[in-house]
Amino acid sequence: MSRISDLAKWMIEHPSAIREIMTLVAEFEKHPEKWPRRLIYLAGGWPQDPPPETLRDKLREIINNDELWKKGARYSPTVGYPDTLEAVANYEKEIWGRKIDINNLVFGLGSSEQIGAVFLALINPGDEVILTSPGYLNYKRQLDLELKLKAKVRYWRIINKDGLFDPDFDTLQNEVISDKTKLIIITTPGNPDGQVWNDEQVRAVMDIAEDRSIYVLFDLAYRAFIYNEDNVPKYLSKAPGEWDIWSCTLSKELRIPGWRASYLIIPEDIKRSLDTIEQARTLAPTSIIQITLEKFFKDKSVLHDLSIFYKKGAEKYRLAAQKTIQLLREIPNIGILEPHGGFYVFFDVSSYDRDSKRIWKELINQYQVALAPGIDFNGFDGWLRLSFAPVIESMELLEEGLNRIKEFFNSYKGSK
Ligand SMILES: Cc1ncc(COP(=O)(O)O)c(C=O)c1O
Repeated sequence: MSRISDLAKWMIEHPSAIREIMTLVAEFEKHPEKWPRRLIYLAGGWPQDPPPETLRDKLREIINNDELWKKGARYSPTVGYPDTLEAVANYEKEIWGRKIDINNLVFGLGSSEQIGAVFLALINPGDEVILTSPGYLNYKRQLDLELKLKAKVRYWRIINKDGLFDPDFDTLQNEVISDKTKLIIITTPGNPDGQVWNDEQVRAVMDIAEDRSIYVLFDLAYRAFIYNEDNVPKYLSKAPGEWDIWSCTLSKELRIPGWRASYLIIPEDIKRSLDTIEQARTLAPTSIIQITLEKFFKDKSVLHDLSIFYKKGAEKYRLAAQKTIQLLREIPNIGILEPHGGFYVFFDVSSYDRDSKRIWKELINQYQVALAPGIDFNGFDGWLRLSFAPVIESMELLEEGLNRIKEFFNSYKGSK
């Protein structure tokens, strides 16, 4: 008999592409002498600019205070400390203009974990979940894992044949949704596509979903990185509804992916199910981080500084996107989907090779530049994703990476 489960075997056969790239990066770092050039890593979505300095001050305050230090060492309630949830509600109101009651909030250990809990809370075997194509790669793997392969995933293509962002609601309604659809997931700004859904598009999805009692989960991981502040959609401040779930991770906006901190805004009636599911899965989110964030989000002057931090951050990322596009345009015959937010530029290289994994591998082996292949983003082959987040502090590296990419395509002999 096998020592591991069939499910574990399946997961080994289907590893996370980005995590796999990280293994490769570790190999590069360990043995740089094996390669002609230093690796330029443009694959993962980790912001390399530092978190706000005031966050460090708050953490220091807690470490220096006996009472808070002790509280930070204890277990918190599974859904988070009420004081933390109050502080999160304050942050939502002051920064995002969203009014929420703490009964609509659940604090957690990162959105990956929390979205897994949402799957367990909502989905029965045989139910269907709609993911966008392209779309964030981890949901499918999570659904496979959490629901033991029994949920069916359907893809809704949101980029049209001309390579433009163009979600088609008739297709969603008439071809993708079925009687078994339980959940639709929308990421805005998108990963890998960088598209910001506008209010009409979000309203259209919500109307279709509400009409058929389907939940819509909005992943707002990149909401603080919308490049044009005049274009920030109103749904970011929408009050919680009956069928909408909002996943808010602090990984990207506060530049703390290693802290594992996030919260969900959910309909009140599913809070108890998330509570009891997480009692079994995680027991509780990290106390010391909750207390730090509580102090942080309740402080008026911090929130004032934070809005400036977000503004400057969005501008910095916009400039990186602009530089990326400008240099990619020098490569003939590629199609660029211009991003309006987030960390990524997604581009069509199918005129060189439809096999994005082959191109991706060749680029690492020949030019030591790591991107992410489109096939991993819900099957969008023929495209590549470039993340400028890992080099956001060094535009020279971004430029060097893009120059290598250009050289690579100039001499690429792969098959179509
Ligand atoms: C769209 C999206 N959602 C969620 C996550 C994961 O966030 P967390 O660190 O909260 O697990 C990522 C990470 O890249 C992401 O791109």
